[in-house]
Amino acid sequence: MRTHHCNELREANIGQTVTLIGWVNSARDHGGVIFIDLRDREGLTQCVFRPEENPEVALQSHTLREEDVVQVTGRVVARLDGSGNAKMPTGAIEIVGAALRIVNKADVLPFQLDKELSNEDLRMKYRYLDLRRARMGRNLRLRHTITSAARRYLDEAGFYEVETPILSNPTPEGARDFLVPSRLNPGRFYALPQAPQQYKQLLMVAGLEKYFQIARCFRDEDLRADRQPEFTQIDIEASFIGQDDIIKIVEGLLVAMFKAGLGVDVPNNFPQLTYREAMDTYGSDKPDTRYGMKIIDLADLFASTGFKIFRATLDGGGVVRALNAKGFAGLTTGQMNRLNEIAIQAGLPVKTLAFIKCEGGEYKSPLWKFFTEAEQAALIAKLAIAEGDLVFFGAGALDTVCTILGRVRSEIATMMELTKDSTAFNFLWVVDFPLLAHDEETGGWGAVHHPFTRPNPDDLALLEAGDYAKVRAVAYDVVLNGYELGGGSIRIHEKDLQAQMFQVLGVGPEEQQIKFGHLLDAFRFGAPPHGGLALGLDRIAMLIAGEESIREVIAFPKNNKGADLMSHSPCHIETKLQREVYIQSTWKNPQHAATTAAAPAPQS
Ligand code: AMO
Repeated sequence: MRTHHCNELREANIGQTVTLIGWVNSARDHGGVIFIDLRDREGLTQCVFRPEENPEVALQSHTLREEDVVQVTGRVVARLDGSGNAKMPTGAIEIVGAALRIVNKADVLPFQLDKELSNEDLRMKYRYLDLRRARMGRNLRLRHTITSAARRYLDEAGFYEVETPILSNPTPEGARDFLVPSRLNPGRFYALPQAPQQYKQLLMVAGLEKYFQIARCFRDEDLRADRQPEFTQIDIEASFIGQDDIIKIVEGLLVAMFKAGLGVDVPNNFPQLTYREAMDTYGSDKPDTRYGMKIIDLADLFASTGFKIFRATLDGGGVVRALNAKGFAGLTTGQMNRLNEIAIQAGLPVKTLAFIKCEGGEYKSPLWKFFTEAEQAALIAKLAIAEGDLVFFGAGALDTVCTILGRVRSEIATMMELTKDSTAFNFLWVVDFPLLAHDEETGGWGAVHHPFTRPNPDDLALLEAGDYAKVRAVAYDVVLNGYELGGGSIRIHEKDLQAQMFQVLGVGPEEQQIKFGHLLDAFRFGAPPHGGLALGLDRIAMLIAGEESIREVIAFPKNNKGADLMSHSPCHIETKLQREVYIQSTWKNPQHAATTAAAPAPQS
């Protein structure tokens, strides 16, 4: 339907007769002469309809409205002197319309496409219109570009792309499963995969050696700006490799994706921090290292303190730590309240964070007077406290203090807009994660990554001895600017070690057979040593696109209640359909039941 696209014609085309098709981006009437910017996926071209050249076509052009689909045939001419638009790649030329076909009229739009819209619900309801906007078109193109680059890179590195089932069994990745009832197997359910973890390991047992998949994953969990209930991983697994090999492959992959998406050369050899270093220094296992504000340990400084709270904490095996928010002493009461709120959510047992403000040469603090002069001087030196600084303290159990100060650190960075204009990409690896975490609720132990993660060989004796908190995993996360981009591990490939691991996690032999019998069986038949990692494609696309939510790089995302406002999913299912798959909803709409006593309540 076209000879050229709308971002193609230049001065070299002057004199040619061309046909373009697309949407009317804008239409302007200049004293009876109609100008339109015609838009397609590639860009814009100006078309002009002059009554003196073609009265019939000019008359027709008067009816054009934004977003009508039109086909224009005409001659490419130079724009009149001075009327060229340097901002438009096609700005030197225009098409003098000789024929105009209105292919399809558009109704008045629910919102303007050239303005930012804060009403996200409206954008989602008319997502197909929202996606017409330049920014969204650019984001989807970018996502395509980086996905293609990832496929190319992995293909060249010898990885096979293999699809694994969506209708599968529960996969322990830390979220709830989405369930699908089976019509052919009454009373049974499939679970949608939280990740293709077990399948990719079985592909290694199958001898594939190098696998990847652009894999859809489904997790029923609380949603955030960087979390969707269905999302995409670049999932990889390889045999006969170690942690360093995976790290090298993934660095190469990310370098290739950033080069394709942004044209930047990200240096590989990302720095590595152990989990302990990350938690001690930044209070997070996904630290943003674009700014300092490091957490400082004060155990030595307060080793012989008389200040009761610190004394009792240190004597009880706890820690005393602090961070210096340089230049933030002038924070507002609202900001201070917000920081206290965040600290309380992170486990602060009292109502306010302990602090020192250095203002007007004075140290304003509820604590200052309890410190000796020597302690005060040592604090000033150790934390490099200067005029205008604000120091926060944490005292208590190690994990709690790290978490509190980590959250406070990142909130202060947001408040101070420390990364607002940053163009830095601070990649890093966090390695040596703990294998197990104690679950306060159940009193048992849970896997920090997943149950298939290999214990560090140096810590097997600790595992044997039941000293679970100290056992490290051969697991690694790749982090960028405070976001966890991906995580993986070297796996257990021996049946007995896997069974032992399940046992530690409270899964007894019978349950192991029911849930993981296939994997334990597979490990009996010559399973190769293997490992892998999965990257969150949506998060990578979001960071490359410079967006703050993965919804901006997903064509049809869900809102934070897991709903698609355009197609109205999830939807009610008729009782008849429910019966066919042997389920019956117990949900009743209380409002509906109260107002329409006679009618049956809608089923969900
Ligand atoms: P993990 O659970 O760490 O590992 O997931 C890997 C990466 O997937 C992304 N991600 C998400 N992105 C958007 N929305 C979500 N709800 C969401 N959840 C996770 C993150 C994360 O780093 N099977 C293991 C990988 C392995 O061991 O090989 C796994 O799934 O970027």
